[in-house]
Amino acid sequence: MARCAADRDDVAHPDAAVTPDPFTDREYHKTAPVPATGRPSIYEFRQPKRDWLKYMFEHYIVLPRAGRVLDAGCGPGAYIPAARDVAPGAVLIALDIAAGRLAHIDRAKAVRVAADVTALPLLDCSIDVVLAMHMLYHVPHVPDAVAEFHRVLRGGGVLYAFTNSERSQSQLTELYERHGGGSGSAMGDPHFSNESGRALLETSFSDVTLTELRDSELVVTDPECVVDEFQRLRYALEPHLVEGTAWDDFVDATRSDVTAMVERDGTFRISECHGLFVCRRP
Ligand SMILES: C[S@@+](CC[C@H](N)C(=O)[O-])C[C@H]1O[C@@H](n2cnc3c(N)ncnc32)[C@H](O)[C@@H]1O
Repeated sequence: MARCAADRDDVAHPDAAVTPDPFTDREYHKTAPVPATGRPSIYEFRQPKRDWLKYMFEHYIVLPRAGRVLDAGCGPGAYIPAARDVAPGAVLIALDIAAGRLAHIDRAKAVRVAADVTALPLLDCSIDVVLAMHMLYHVPHVPDAVAEFHRVLRGGGVLYAFTNSERSQSQLTELYERHGGGSGSAMGDPHFSNESGRALLETSFSDVTLTELRDSELVVTDPECVVDEFQRLRYALEPHLVEGTAWDDFVDATRSDVTAMVERDGTFRISECHGLFVCRRP
């Protein structure tokens, strides 16, 4: 079997410097902790209540019990424990451009690699499954990453690319637009979405299918949690407020609006629509 860079220990130390990337910087801001509020994030209000990562592996993502699985753009490694459970004999490779993220990942569960998905330090045809979960929309030129995934997958290997519909969370987009947001597209990234993903994946893969997952929603009972979410997205939203709208005014108006809805209906419901692309290499 071809040797893979990941047969060795981590190919780059998580503290190693990696190429600066504006999309990663943007991602850092997106996931930097908002000032501690003690409140749950809106995602903790997701219904139905279930272990979503386990559910994905039980229903949609097939991992080989042994073999090599690349979690590309793994972040702090949310998928790693569930992947380890379903693929106990597999080599799991946790790869991210932001080296600091990898420090959160248990080295006993996965090999950690600091690298850019557009230049993977892996041999041709060396990987059985690539996971690219909610990450391709951060890559400036997506076809470069897709070509790399195709190169490292063996014949019969599969790429799973998870993303969102541009219509997901439309209730948040409506709030943003109602209270001063100039462009709703600031809320959702069309760079790699359910709508735009197929054409980007077909630049390398001829067998691409999309499954839309629409059976979840965020049923939020605390208006402040919705405000917290806008605060978390401030880096992306504030630059697109219409001229003359101050961030604090936007926040106050949004708080009043959501509070009124929760008083009236008991909850503020945010619909979700995820998309899982499955790309098979012949
Ligand atoms: C939204 S997070 C998703 C993390 C994880 N896959 C999950 O679903 O929980 C996107 C991750 O992609 C990483 N990323 C962005 N551009 C990348 C690139 N060119 N190469 C490797 N990782 C990248 C970011 O650093 C970030 O950790």
